[in-house]
Amino acid sequence: MRRPLLGLVAALVVVGAIAAALAWLLNDPKPPAGASHAERLYYAYCVTCHGVDGRGSWRAALFLIRPGDLASAAHSRPDRYLFDIIKHGGAPLGRPGMPAFGYHLSDADIEALVAYLKTLDRRQPR
Ligand code: HEC
Repeated sequence: MRRPLLGLVAALVVVGAIAAALAWLLNDPKPPAGASHAERLYYAYCVTCHGVDGRGSWRAALFLIRPGDLASAAHSRPDRYLFDIIKHGGAPLGRPGMPAFGYHLSDADIEALVAYLKTLDRRQPR
């Protein structure tokens, strides 16, 4: 009678450990203490795909998403382009991988993000 119960408890412990490991692995990186509004927005909405340093996260690579290098794009592209691709997504510009954030972020938030992108290459890659 006690053997099956032990088996069940062991199985629950194993499943719990796997769930905890996944939760830890898939948890988004948190913004550093004292982060600016724009930086917190970037961590909340962009890090999943673009990574902390803007060069693409391993999770994006896992799903074969290639988000490019935001640090170099921020310097080589006009502000208007950066603003539009964040607000309306990449589809109208022929870059369909990038989702639109016009429903989530105000224009002021998007402008703050554009300014933040320009500071990316001054940060240490992780
Ligand atoms: C679901 C994943 C995903 C999220 C979330 C995401 N992006 Fe992107 N982004 C992409 C991909 C993929 C591309 C490249 C699109 C292409 O080339 O087709 C891209 C492209 C861009 C580009 C253009 C880069 C270039 O080289 O022209 C900018 C700027 C950009 N993203 C900014 C942001 C910002 C800011 C956020 C957060 C508000 C964000 N992205 C959130 C996937 C994402």
